[in-house]
Amino acid sequence: MGQYKHHVFVCTSGKTCSWQGGPEVHEVMKRAAHQAGLRGTVRINQSGCMNQCGHGPMVVVYPQDVWYGKVDEEGGERIVREHLVGGHIVERYRYVAPPGDNKIE
Ligand code: FES
Repeated sequence: MGQYKHHVFVCTSGKTCSWQGGPEVHEVMKRAAHQAGLRGTVRINQSGCMNQCGHGPMVVVYPQDVWYGKVDEEGGERIVREHLVGGHIVERYRYVAPPGDNKIE
């Protein structure tokens, strides 16, 4: 087992997610995780581009390797509440695409 139960990456500084709400989603998720008492068990990091530009803001949850796309602030809260706390993937925001790069912008 690694250092954290979940390690979450939120694209905040790439070409599109940076202005499509990525930084705000990161803030919301950090706050929600803190309020849910996940400090020390979950890490929520900002990340650079994930080469899925145009489908974001992108969020990835490891170790499950679950990808989320077009995540808004409500989505960020739901991912914390339902996935990180509850253990259920939030299908409304789940991102499924062919492996590799999938930029549309
Ligand atoms: S800018 Fe977020 S995936 Fe490229």
